[in-house]
Amino acid sequence: MEHNESRMRRIFSGVKPTGPIHLGNYLGALRNWVELQHQYESFFCIVDLHAITVSQDSQELAARTREIARLYIATGIDPKISTIFVQSDVSEHAELTWMLNCITRVGELERMTQFKDKARRQRESAGVGLFDYPVLMAADILLYQTDLVPVGEDQKQHLELTRDLAIRFNRDYGETFRVPDPFIPKVGARIMSLSDSTKKMSKSDESPNGCIELLDTAETVRRKFKRAVTDSGTEIKFDESRPAITNLLSIYQLLTGKQPEDVEAHFAGQGYAQLKNELADVTVEFLRPVQERVENISDQELDRILDDGRRRAQEIARQTLDDVKRRMGLQGALRARA
Ligand code: AMP
Ligand code: TRP
Repeated sequence: MEHNESRMRRIFSGVKPTGPIHLGNYLGALRNWVELQHQYESFFCIVDLHAITVSQDSQELAARTREIARLYIATGIDPKISTIFVQSDVSEHAELTWMLNCITRVGELERMTQFKDKARRQRESAGVGLFDYPVLMAADILLYQTDLVPVGEDQKQHLELTRDLAIRFNRDYGETFRVPDPFIPKVGARIMSLSDSTKKMSKSDESPNGCIELLDTAETVRRKFKRAVTDSGTEIKFDESRPAITNLLSIYQLLTGKQPEDVEAHFAGQGYAQLKNELADVTVEFLRPVQERVENISDQELDRILDDGRRRAQEIARQTLDDVKRRMGLQGALRARA
């Protein structure tokens, strides 16, 4: 079986092209991908089939998909060692989703908190795609016999479902899928909105100042930090009971690579304005080279990288899907090979 061969361990992860990548995506996920790509065979996907679970403007979706690919590369994913590809380019994702649908229980999907949150207001009219979203995500991961999935905290429940489906399939049809582990960082797994520290930073933030996008101008970054909410009190310390300041300090810690004690020592005796100013400086410095690299990737180069990625991904996805079909008795044209 393919996954029993000795090979490098694999990671798989993705971002939905529903909006520009933000600091939460970077600190919770991408930053770790960049590190892990040197130890793992890596697959980084732009999950456009997940994006269409809510209505999208087609031109905008196509443009965003390419923008996210550029940002993967610009933040440090190296297409020479990692596979970067677009989900809808590899039709095996949709196909395996169907097979997995047939072993998934309605009750399991009804318990998914992300679905409950998203469908809360319009339960009857919510799309079936939104309901099935976690199964497509399981297919993404299982197709590549993934060992580790680096994501933010909000994806933990989806990962548990993925594991359950892999275990169930293996039990019913024989050892087919590797059962993946989540990789959720200790700091940064849940970056909060700058305008409401009870909500995670998100592309769909209602307040325009809550979310720092990786393509924001320096001026916008400064404005957003300036308007960021703070907590009562004046001390600048990591403290769970003061989530807004803790969030700002976590961002500072991650972008500077300093230890929490050093961050606190650095800001001892300073005011919130100083913290916000320095945070803006650090963020602008971080974004500058990223934005320059985005500008420097030509359309032609991007096409080549995504074509290459599609070929590499498809080769592995096909092997897994063939195995699944054979095990389920969906022989078809595979009959000769079975
Ligand atoms: P999405 O933008 O929902 O496609 O998320 C892409 C990746 O970013 C996933 O691994 C998420 O868990 C992660 N992520 C999204 N928002 C945040 C956040 N506010 N803090 C940390 N990680 C996040
Ligand atoms: N659902 C993930 C999110 O919203 C994106 C995603 C889709 C993903 N497929 C994946 C993440 C596979 C990791 C692995 O963040």
